[in-house]
Amino acid sequence: MNSIIPTNLKTEYLYNPLGIDSSHPRLSWMIETKTRGFLQSAYRILVSSDRQQLLDESGFVWDSGKVNSDQSVFVPYNGTPLLSNERYYWKVRVWDTRGNLSAWSEVSEWSMGLLSQSEWKANWIGEVFKPVEGNREVSFFRKSFTIGKPIQRATIYATAFGAIEVSLNGSRVGEDYFAPEWTDYHTRVHYRTYDVTSLLHVGSNAVGSILGEGWYSGHIAWYGKNLYGEALRFMLQLYVRYEDGTEETIVSDSSWKESKGPIAFSDFLMGESYDARLEHDGWNEAGFDDSAWRSPHVYGDFKGWINAQISPPIRVVEEKEPITEQKVVPGSLLIDIGQNMVGWVRIKVTGDRGSKVTLRYAEVLNPDGSIYTDNLRTAKQTDTYTLKGEGIEIYEPKFTFHGFRYVEITASADVKVTQITGRVIHNSMKSTGKLITSDSGVNQLFSNILWTQRANFISVPTDCPQRDERMGWTGDAQVFSRTASYNMDVAGFFAKYMTDIVDAQRKTGAFTDTAPFLKGFSDWSTFVASAGWADAGVIIPWTMYSVYEDRRIIEDNYDAMAAWLAFLVKMNPSLLRTDTQYYGDWLSLNASTPMDLFATAYFAYCAKLMAAMSEAVGKTEQAASYAALFEQIRSRFIEAFVAEDGRIAGETQTGYALALFMELLPEETRRKAAAHLVADIEQRGWHITTGIHGIKYLLPVLCEAGYEEASYRLLLQETYPSWLYSIRNGATTIWERWDGWTEEKGFQNPGMNSFNHYALGAVGEWMFRYMGGIDKSSETPGYKHIQIRPFLNDSLTLVDCQYESSYGTIRNRWSIVDGFAELQVTIPPNTKADIFIPYIDGEQVYESGEPVLYVANNRVGESIIDLGIVGPRRVFQIGSGEYRFRTRFKSNGAGK
Ligand code: BGC
Repeated sequence: MNSIIPTNLKTEYLYNPLGIDSSHPRLSWMIETKTRGFLQSAYRILVSSDRQQLLDESGFVWDSGKVNSDQSVFVPYNGTPLLSNERYYWKVRVWDTRGNLSAWSEVSEWSMGLLSQSEWKANWIGEVFKPVEGNREVSFFRKSFTIGKPIQRATIYATAFGAIEVSLNGSRVGEDYFAPEWTDYHTRVHYRTYDVTSLLHVGSNAVGSILGEGWYSGHIAWYGKNLYGEALRFMLQLYVRYEDGTEETIVSDSSWKESKGPIAFSDFLMGESYDARLEHDGWNEAGFDDSAWRSPHVYGDFKGWINAQISPPIRVVEEKEPITEQKVVPGSLLIDIGQNMVGWVRIKVTGDRGSKVTLRYAEVLNPDGSIYTDNLRTAKQTDTYTLKGEGIEIYEPKFTFHGFRYVEITASADVKVTQITGRVIHNSMKSTGKLITSDSGVNQLFSNILWTQRANFISVPTDCPQRDERMGWTGDAQVFSRTASYNMDVAGFFAKYMTDIVDAQRKTGAFTDTAPFLKGFSDWSTFVASAGWADAGVIIPWTMYSVYEDRRIIEDNYDAMAAWLAFLVKMNPSLLRTDTQYYGDWLSLNASTPMDLFATAYFAYCAKLMAAMSEAVGKTEQAASYAALFEQIRSRFIEAFVAEDGRIAGETQTGYALALFMELLPEETRRKAAAHLVADIEQRGWHITTGIHGIKYLLPVLCEAGYEEASYRLLLQETYPSWLYSIRNGATTIWERWDGWTEEKGFQNPGMNSFNHYALGAVGEWMFRYMGGIDKSSETPGYKHIQIRPFLNDSLTLVDCQYESSYGTIRNRWSIVDGFAELQVTIPPNTKADIFIPYIDGEQVYESGEPVLYVANNRVGESIIDLGIVGPRRVFQIGSGEYRFRTRFKSNGAGK
């Protein structure tokens, strides 16, 4: 038995993906072994278009040969050109530094999509177009066809201006919702690929599709309908490869039939109206009589891009049962799901034909127990179902989603709702983070952050999922992106979002404040180029590169980022950024950070990140010039905003946090500035004043400056304003504003009061990096070189933090018991880690019961290296494996 094996094979951003349209997909794997200190020294990848040939090793499109390299993340395919619509199988084996060879991995696969637009033989079809005032009935499309001989494989490619649900012989195809998801439809539309081999059979078959409005023509934000157009249409291509090697393609064209059905409307913001009496039984099966259905309209070609979706699709990822149910008024039920969530409920219901059930969704309740909907603005979030009266009926909406914890269900007396199930949706990214501590409030905070991410990662990172907004606000997204990367594998999700950001970029080079950018804005200068928002175009690629080693996200977006920097320099020749004044540190409390300071800090930060990214992709000259630009902006920042005694203009927590985090201060001023920052926090009774930007940086800079105690006080603060204040008041997701609800004033500002906004949850990054101590070394991208540097504080006695990196699980579980700190650490194969252990001068550090220095020097084959004492910590470098460190710990409790 070989004890080393590559696992978790990934192609591009996904496991076994269908329909990749990258001509050199990148292959990644993890390695499973119990060996301590495992490092890969070489790999061999085999790729074949035939599974059996791959297993027999008898035929390949790529044999990498033995490549001496420790790379196991994003290795680009480098074999013979890959063909459209083909399937590829691959496996990998690795060598360690001692020459041991692993077993072969299991076989993983991917399929290529349609590599050139000319391979789309289908027509765009839709209903015969006429402008529609108000609600639009949903169209159903169908086509019958005959399959004459045994099938080897069948694949559907589908795209739409709208949201499409495809079915074959009565069965739903795939599990996607709202495909092909939101892009800037003027420029680009996605397609999805489905393997339908098992759904087709020899004889008569039928393909059907239902076409909802989605983001294309449904309500978006406060801009109303038809932002992209009115002509909903789709294109579908079904490839059949027969066992005898011949092929056939069935495409969307004028031979299809179209009809309206039970869905009077289905809209993201407004909800759905469904009349089961109007269903067409068997409409998507062969043999259905469609003679009364119309011919569709055939539309012209789309001149933009038709690309495969690179992010994991939106799916139902969990179901939730209500925790309570109570009657509010006669004929009305109030359901509490117990968790603010996004999706809808599925109901089982009986009643008379023609009776109606109305479901209204809300996040919170009024003091009288009724649902609070003022904060939804014009979004109705209401589903209506009309019964057909045929026993148990099951209903869930198709093309809408709601942000809610409560559902008010109203119906006439004959109606019985027998089952209610919450259906939770989001882009189906793999969960990667776990965090448990000794404090239930902190645990709930982590859960709230996670649920807020789940709620808002719906095709694009949205600000909120309930009111008439739900837009891809770039500022919120960049602030939260690193936190998001701890919670879930968001590499593909943000790579896709970068295409939205770049598609939205203005001709001037300006990035926008929302992406996709809605062209319904009347004033083109509004919602563009705002500091802290538009800068997401630089900060997000940097974050993804740092976490996932994704160089391609830099390469693909480099020119766009360079154009943004050029725009900033042109608009701000003095290098003080005064061109944009929009929102600043949005939603800060009783503290106003000067706009120029805020904007100039972000300007400098972008220049600095551009220098690092230029370096990463081998653009040395550009790296030097961006580094020089950073220094110039920094000097201007210091002149304009920093006093010698370390005070920063405005004296806000955010001002200090930005300047410290972005390294804008002279070395000798840093310490003084940090002291002013802490003085401000203390003077406010250990309360936060930052808005959505400062919050990302505040706790990290406190720890870096030696004030970890202050960071724990803020974390554990229970009085207003604080995270735990919202939790004490029932929050199960992160609130948009610190004062969303207060004992004193009740609900605030209904026009802008979401209870599901992730930005203030950007503290999740600090929870993993500083509290849990799982971080990457700043020198190298990704977690190849890990840093375990927890900031222990005995206001917590236990923090158990786990993160699934590209190399495998990293875990740090620290506890404080009887004056001793214990760290149980897991480091994945093919990485090394610097581990920072709290250190009292002269005290021993033990590893698995033995003095660590003894272990480092004497245990044969051991991979512990002593790196010496750094401040209050002793640092060791360790290789992969499981370790248990123990040392005496000096109490430093704060917090509670
Ligand atoms: C959104 C924010 C966004 C902001 C811009 C709000 O309406 O909900 O999260 O960043 O506008 O200031």
